[in-house]
Amino acid sequence: MTDPLAAAALQARENAHAPYSNFRVGAALEDSEGHVHTGCNVENATYGLTVCAERVAVLKAMSEGVRSFRRIAVAADTGTLTPPCGACRQILWEFCGDIEVVLVNPHGKTETLQLKALFPRAYDRSFL
Ligand code: THU
Repeated sequence: MTDPLAAAALQARENAHAPYSNFRVGAALEDSEGHVHTGCNVENATYGLTVCAERVAVLKAMSEGVRSFRRIAVAADTGTLTPPCGACRQILWEFCGDIEVVLVNPHGKTETLQLKALFPRAYDRSFL
C-alpha cells in the first residue's frame, strides 16, 4: 500500500464498531495542510443512529477547526470497492467540495475518482 492516506483508512477500519452489520469501514481525510483526520463506522442498537466512517472523519476535523480539505480515502473489505453512501456524499460536498475520493480494500485494490463524479448535480447552498 503506497498511498499513506489509503493505509490510514485501512488502519482506522480496525477501530470500526460494527457489531450489527459486521461491515467495517475506515476513512482518512487529508486537509490542505497535509494533516490526516480518521474515522470509522460506529453503529448503534437503534440502527438509525449509526454513523458512517466518512462522516466521523469530517466531523472530527470540523470540530478541530479545519475547513479546507484535499482528499478522502475510504476502506472496506469488498471486491467492488465501497463508495460513500448518499448521506456521506452530501456531507462531503458541503464541507469538502469536489475533493478526490480514494477507494481501497485490504487486498491492495484502489480506485480514485472525484466527488463530483459520485455526486453530480448536488443540492447545496447555491440554491438558497
Ligand atoms: N458504512 C460506512 O461507514 N461508510 C460507507 O461508505 C458505507 C456504509 C457503514 C454504515 C454501517 O455501519 C455499515 O457500513 C453497513 O452499512
